[in-house]
Amino acid sequence: MSIGIFDSGVGGISVLREIRRLLPAEDLIYYADSAHCPYGGKPREQILARSTAITEFLIAQGARLIVVACNTATIAAVEHLRATYPLSFVGMEPAVKPAVALTRTGVVGVLATGAALAGEKFHRLLAQHAGGVRVITQPCPGLVEQVERGDLDGPQTRALVERYTRPLLAQRADVLVLGCTHYPFLRPLIQDVVGPAVTLLDTGEAVARQTQRLLERQGALVGAQRLGTIAWHTSGDAAAFARLRRLLLPEDDGCGG
Ligand code: DGL
Repeated sequence: MSIGIFDSGVGGISVLREIRRLLPAEDLIYYADSAHCPYGGKPREQILARSTAITEFLIAQGARLIVVACNTATIAAVEHLRATYPLSFVGMEPAVKPAVALTRTGVVGVLATGAALAGEKFHRLLAQHAGGVRVITQPCPGLVEQVERGDLDGPQTRALVERYTRPLLAQRADVLVLGCTHYPFLRPLIQDVVGPAVTLLDTGEAVARQTQRLLERQGALVGAQRLGTIAWHTSGDAAAFARLRRLLLPEDDGCGG
């Protein structure tokens, strides 16, 4: 029995990395839907259909809990998945609540895909947690593609980061929420562009803790002192995916298929 994790591509590896750190004994199955990446500009029905197909694949592979390691897929599909399948799902939620608690200027920026920002679930999150804080949303087309190319700090990626963060800084945002699981791989570049006075927040660690809590509650945590396996799957080119994950997760190189 394993933990299934999926994303439109390699972004969810930023979440897998945190789960691995917290729960090293667990066996993990990762599915990158690279043939359909990015999800960000796609209609909700399509993202829902892909999320359903991947969930069935992960269940067939022995997943006992599934982490939807994609903000866009969480917004489009997690409620449907929870209502349809008899296992636990952990979804992503942009770190708006901690950002609101942290800001001193009273302005928070949220970087995410257009589809994630347009979702009703995101609007509920804002209504619940923004309070008196101004939350400015910024869709970032092209950034997911740069990460999928393995370009984490080249001039093209830097130019996109500059373009998307400039308006947020101009409005005095001092906390930026990385609302897409691809963006933590750009953290060093984003931090360099926005400067040290701006705090960047993502939810990978919180999702790992929630995964631990749910497994504990089910009495399903692996107790043994062992290093779990990672099984890698993609709907895209297997060799390109293997190259990319070695770049993004060098510490687990050679671990599992
Ligand atoms: N990693 C996905 C997310 O968190 C990227 C979505 C996309 O493929 O556009 O939203």
